[in-house]
Amino acid sequence: MSAPLTAPTLTDGVITIRAHRSDDLPRVVEQCLDPESIAWTMVPTPYDAREAEEFALHLMPQGWLDGSEWGFAVELEGRYAGTVSLRNEGPGRAEIAFGSHPDVRGTGAIERGCRLLLEWGFAQLDLETIVWRAFTGNWASRKLAWRLGFTQEGTLRQYLPQRGAGRRDAWVGTLLRDDPREPRTTWLEVPVIEGDGFRLRPVRVDDAPRIQEGTAEPDAEHWLGHKPAPYTMDDARAYVERRREHEATGQAMTWAVADGDDDDRILGTVLWFNWVPEVECELGYWLHPDARGRGLATAACRLALDHVFESLGVRRVTAFAAAANTASRAVIERLGFRFYGIERSGAQVRDGWVDMALYDVTASEWAAGRRSSANPTASTANPASESSTPIASGDR
Ligand SMILES: CC(C)(COP(=O)(O)OP(=O)(O)OC[C@H]1O[C@@H](n2cnc3c(N)ncnc32)[C@H](O)[C@@H]1OP(=O)(O)O)[C@@H](O)C(=O)NCCC(=O)NCCS
Repeated sequence: MSAPLTAPTLTDGVITIRAHRSDDLPRVVEQCLDPESIAWTMVPTPYDAREAEEFALHLMPQGWLDGSEWGFAVELEGRYAGTVSLRNEGPGRAEIAFGSHPDVRGTGAIERGCRLLLEWGFAQLDLETIVWRAFTGNWASRKLAWRLGFTQEGTLRQYLPQRGAGRRDAWVGTLLRDDPREPRTTWLEVPVIEGDGFRLRPVRVDDAPRIQEGTAEPDAEHWLGHKPAPYTMDDARAYVERRREHEATGQAMTWAVADGDDDDRILGTVLWFNWVPEVECELGYWLHPDARGRGLATAACRLALDHVFESLGVRRVTAFAAAANTASRAVIERLGFRFYGIERSGAQVRDGWVDMALYDVTASEWAAGRRSSANPTASTANPASESSTPIASGDR
């Protein structure tokens, strides 16, 4: 099948994709001056009306003429909303590219534009495989590709150039002609859960300084022997980024335990990981030193466990701590977990491998514990505050 020499006009009733026009230029300029576009694409900087004209009125039409790229303007409510295109990668293959004007992000307009583009490309260009690539860390792009049904294939190291500054790592995904155009995997959304004087919320990039500070201190450094030491800001930023990776791939969910007041300062983390659907998962936690000693780890874990048992449908949750980590074991015991043994040389502390204490709680035990703690005459939980010794378990 041969491609047309200019962009056809296609619509889904909400958005239209069509050839670029001269009245698009002011909004093309706005899009290309937007910090996200500069960070995540190869748009030239600085950027003004001349670059916009070259791109929209010369480069895009030329792509159609020579068959190198099939680009469309996306129009929403009569205004230019962004650009979507397929770049020719040889017979049967193309790369998808997309970018939106900042004021349409979150409206689904570009997703709709991509859907029209993909169906047109598979049908009219005889494509079999469409590839998506993005600089690593471009979560908005990755989420859109995920929504469209792309399978995340991995990371291409030092692959995509950007403005002559060397090559950056790139994520890569593929969509085949017969793949469903819907998510192939679970992308976990971390809910905000309000506690008494604290809240559980997603971990953010601006939490990194306190994560670094609270992980580099001597006690945490000792018990968290699997973490790098000295623990740097780069390590803390990588930790935050791994939270997103875990959520995007449905592997684990981490909450920041944050101050309930307005400053929302991170005091620690609580997470579930090692999830075997319908069977089990593991609980982990860590507190910044200035948040230890007041029962916060226990209270935060309790909220997280309620959520785990309600949403994951597991039969049991496990929690492990180095056998000598008294404070961490106290948290687990206060939560109502049962000790079931010692794994010899199971825990890595800073100076080697030590015995690990193993605990679990079943769904029915948890439900029974919650029923009796709702009864003011029963006393299952020990309200005594935690010791000031380090608090950390399984926090990967
Ligand atoms: C990529 C782009 C077209 C997506 O537009 P969009 O689908 O309208 O979506 P948004 O920008 O609102 O973000 C999409 C999703 O990513 C999520 N997201 C954005 N940044 C995120 C981050 N740092 N961590 C986790 N999720 C993030 C958003 O919350 C949103 O999810 P939701 O819809 O479930 O709330 C748009 O963000 C854009 O033009 N970015 C700059 C250019 C670009 O990166 N192009 C792609 C190059 S490969």
